[in-house]
Amino acid sequence: MPKNVAAAGLAVLAWMNLAIPVAFAVASTVDLPLVSAPGDVAAIPTWDIQSTAKITTDPAALSRPGTVLGGDSDSSISSSSWYHVPVSRCTIMGCLSKAGVYNDSDLFFSDRMAAFDQLQFQVPWLYRSEFRLRVNATSSGSRNDTNKYSTHYLLETHGITSSADIYINGWQVANRVKQSGAYGGHVYDVTDVMGEANVIVVRAYPTDYFRDFSLGFVDWNPYPPDNGTGVWRNVTLRQTGPVAIESLSVTTDFSVVDAASGTVTIRAVVRNLDKTTSVQLDINAAVAREDGTGEQAAKLEPLATDTSGIQLTAGQAMQLTLTAAVSTPVVWWPRQWGDQPLYRARLRVSVAGQTSDSASKTFGFRQVTAAVGGAGDIMFRINGRPFQVLGGGYNPDVFLRWDETRFAAQARYALHMGLNTIRLEGKMEQPELYAVADRLGLMVLAGWECCDKWEAWAYNENLPQPVTVWTEADYGTANASMRHEAAVMQAHPSILGFLVGGDYWPDDRATALYSARLADAGWQAPVVASAGKIGYPQALGPGGMKMTGPYDWVPPHYWYAVSPADDNARHGAAFGFGSEQGAGAGTPALSSLRRFLSEADLEDLWRAPDKGLYHMSTADSFFHDRSIYNAALKQRYGEATSLADYVLRAQMADYEATRAEFEAFSAFWTPDENDSRPATGVVYWMLNGGWPTLHWALIDHYLLPAGAYFGVKAAAGRLEHVVYDYAHRSVVLINRSRDRAGRRSVQAELIDVNGRVLASTATRPGALNSTPNTSQMALQTIPGLTALTDVVFLKLTLADGDTNHTLSRGVYWLGPGDDSLDWGSSTWFYTPTIAYTSFRGLDALALANVTVVPKKTADDGRHNITLANWSTVPAVFVHLRLVDAVGADVTPVLWSDNYITLWPRETLQLTLEEILSGAGTARGAAIQVGGKNVETTVVSL
Ligand SMILES: *[C@@H]1O[C@H](CO)[C@@H](O)[C@H](O)[C@H]1NC(C)=O
Ligand SMILES: *[C@@H]1O[C@H](CO)[C@@H](O)[C@H](O)[C@H]1NC(C)=O
Ligand SMILES: *[C@@H]1O[C@H](CO)[C@@H](O)[C@H](O)[C@H]1NC(C)=O
Ligand SMILES: *[C@@H]1O[C@H](CO)[C@@H](O)[C@H](O)[C@H]1NC(C)=O
Ligand SMILES: *[C@@H]1O[C@H](CO)[C@@H](O)[C@H](O)[C@H]1NC(C)=O
Repeated sequence: MPKNVAAAGLAVLAWMNLAIPVAFAVASTVDLPLVSAPGDVAAIPTWDIQSTAKITTDPAALSRPGTVLGGDSDSSISSSSWYHVPVSRCTIMGCLSKAGVYNDSDLFFSDRMAAFDQLQFQVPWLYRSEFRLRVNATSSGSRNDTNKYSTHYLLETHGITSSADIYINGWQVANRVKQSGAYGGHVYDVTDVMGEANVIVVRAYPTDYFRDFSLGFVDWNPYPPDNGTGVWRNVTLRQTGPVAIESLSVTTDFSVVDAASGTVTIRAVVRNLDKTTSVQLDINAAVAREDGTGEQAAKLEPLATDTSGIQLTAGQAMQLTLTAAVSTPVVWWPRQWGDQPLYRARLRVSVAGQTSDSASKTFGFRQVTAAVGGAGDIMFRINGRPFQVLGGGYNPDVFLRWDETRFAAQARYALHMGLNTIRLEGKMEQPELYAVADRLGLMVLAGWECCDKWEAWAYNENLPQPVTVWTEADYGTANASMRHEAAVMQAHPSILGFLVGGDYWPDDRATALYSARLADAGWQAPVVASAGKIGYPQALGPGGMKMTGPYDWVPPHYWYAVSPADDNARHGAAFGFGSEQGAGAGTPALSSLRRFLSEADLEDLWRAPDKGLYHMSTADSFFHDRSIYNAALKQRYGEATSLADYVLRAQMADYEATRAEFEAFSAFWTPDENDSRPATGVVYWMLNGGWPTLHWALIDHYLLPAGAYFGVKAAAGRLEHVVYDYAHRSVVLINRSRDRAGRRSVQAELIDVNGRVLASTATRPGALNSTPNTSQMALQTIPGLTALTDVVFLKLTLADGDTNHTLSRGVYWLGPGDDSLDWGSSTWFYTPTIAYTSFRGLDALALANVTVVPKKTADDGRHNITLANWSTVPAVFVHLRLVDAVGADVTPVLWSDNYITLWPRETLQLTLEEILSGAGTARGAAIQVGGKNVETTVVSL
């Protein structure tokens, strides 16, 4: 039996290498070498997987070249008993779905996942793959010539859940103690075991969220049956010459005032992998714009021994520092503030005139800092400018399947709504995520996750008691995880910061190692203690973020709360930095609901308001039913008369809820952390679900934007905007731009359900000046809003004071009586509403005649749409749906506005754009239009 030789060092392998049978014809489908030149990196491209309950052969034997899957020698590894998976990375469930064993529309339907047999995942599973190399027989000849060029192979892992033993060609190269944790990335020198034909076997151990470092979902969605076990990230092989590059980092230094000049520092470790020969190496490094222009050579910082080349003795490693000066660097900005210019730094080392290794990183010139102000709230600054975070919590796929096209659509959706940040709570996804975010200008607030092994501290009272605190090995796993993730994220300009704690803060030892690994990696963004205020490590100080809910429904009024006087008793209201909060909204549109709910589930959704629902949070969660939400819906919007009617009322409530949250945070933003409690940021809980979910999502599983989405878009989607403050009954002007300023006028008009004008007011000409990146009072009062006896509509319009061009418009529906809150009875997840306003008057609205006239602007899925209300009554909550030739939703799609309330005889111009992927062609065939008082019709495109 092979022993674990990884720990003992690969020297042992060197002579044992001889014992490996010379490769003979292997039934490999991949005949091209996996890597063939120094600097090449490639992922093991496909896997065969199977449970160890089915395969009794030991993994070392399974990894012997010449063992033919499906061969006669051992029937237990016959080809047919393995699942062939055509991708480089997948959890067991992800692999099984790729292999066609399960499909989502089946698995995600109703409560089918509840019946899944989880026991099959309580034993290790095997991942096996074969690959070829063109090993140079002459390269490992005599080892004592100085500067002999030899070829090396490095196997790199980037996290295998929960832990793994790795075997190549009959030998164990890693054991589960070292190769542990979903983020544990390691490099193994496997040169001595490589042959022409190679086999790798990974034995992945089962995952328990309280025992292992994995990716948990708390109560967000059902646990994946395999708890995310497996090779969820690529396992890569790298070919180098005698010297390899490690730990490449790129840091920038430039003046955020004028960006007149900048310095780029490239750091890396160069290691002579050869154990017997010393080498002389030449170094070549440069930075350039991503398109290759403006290249600047990077110069080696003077070394202790000044040489033209660098000498490394056998096995020696050396840290190199190189710098390049860049005149007038082009600064990278978040999307709303400017462009996203990217640069690339590259480093090549050569030995004996041949490239030995090369590596590169994309980076940008942007600076992020953060400070906790006098009142204890964090405020971020980007390139010196105070930056209000408007974000959403990102949820990966429940089976951690990465789909770059899908993520890019979600990221575009986030930006389209006006969000500027996503928060990754322990869901650091794949490295590709950061590249997409860099390109699009979406900030990423990354960090470790809450509520499980990652924060198994003795002082964490929310974990199952007694808490199983970290062992020595666990600190090792955490250390490797931080080192790996810091290296992945470090250079990306989209990184806003890293939260080393979730709900709780790391203990002093973990804090020290996290901080040290971030520093080693050249980390330049803020490091935050945790997402909440329960405590913090002395070394980092307070994080300045609050996590005081809500997570369930609260009325719009909540966010603008002025009483109680004690700020902290206002919980999630719009002050400080809310790291995860929302009104629980996110009901999918009816067409989406029908894709994952059975007829019985749909009945429950509208007829059983207090029933636990499988597509809400898990059964042991407070959020398993919609009772708080449904009580408010019924009180405020009245009893639904059908499923479709329930869904429409829910969309109105969701729109109101998300708009109010983002508008309030925007209204209370001032760019000075020492002001009286400015609202410095908010992260909506959540941006999306890991599967089709009934709440906590601004974007649904099928990428069909609905009420919650357009509520946020109404609040945040415009650089300049005016909002209605529900508590003060005033109007606030918001300017989110970096540089827009000038005279503005604001108009407020109030009408009743019959379209009769009740009041109209406007700012005095010249009275209002808009200034960048702040908010200000526009109208102190709006006449006619007190003592309402029926529903009224308030339209706010913001116009340019010089051109009278409309910059923003929005409509609010307001009812008799205010929603009022019992702040004293607040819990961690909501504040009870004790009296509700009423929108029942909406049910008596006369029908409005609305027309839609589309005009195709090009053949690329873009249309201009004229939406007109021909009636004397308002057309309320008019929603447009893009459908294909068979009436199915076309997504992803960008509507400039949707779920719109039109004034009597008002006409609006909208735009519609299908997000096409690659060479995709536009599918939209018609627009379906409907509304609260608008009959559903279909207009062909
Ligand atoms: C992972 O491997 C796949 C398949 O080779 C490749 O397309 C992708 O770029 C790789 N990603 C990373 C981060 O290595
Ligand atoms: C094989 O070794 C020879 C002699 O050292 C060298 O010239 C050649 O470049 C090597 N080829 C590869 C593919 O490494
Ligand atoms: C998944 O994790 C949970 C909680 O830690 C545990 O109870 C369960 O047994 C695990 N499931 C599997 C298949 O290991
Ligand atoms: C500005 O535009 C609004 C509506 O578009 C109109 O009602 C108003 O009269 C215009 N004001 C001026 C000064 O042109
Ligand atoms: C709606 O208004 C349009 C445009 O004025 C008109 O052509 C149409 O007949 C009206 N429809 C109804 C049902 O009144």
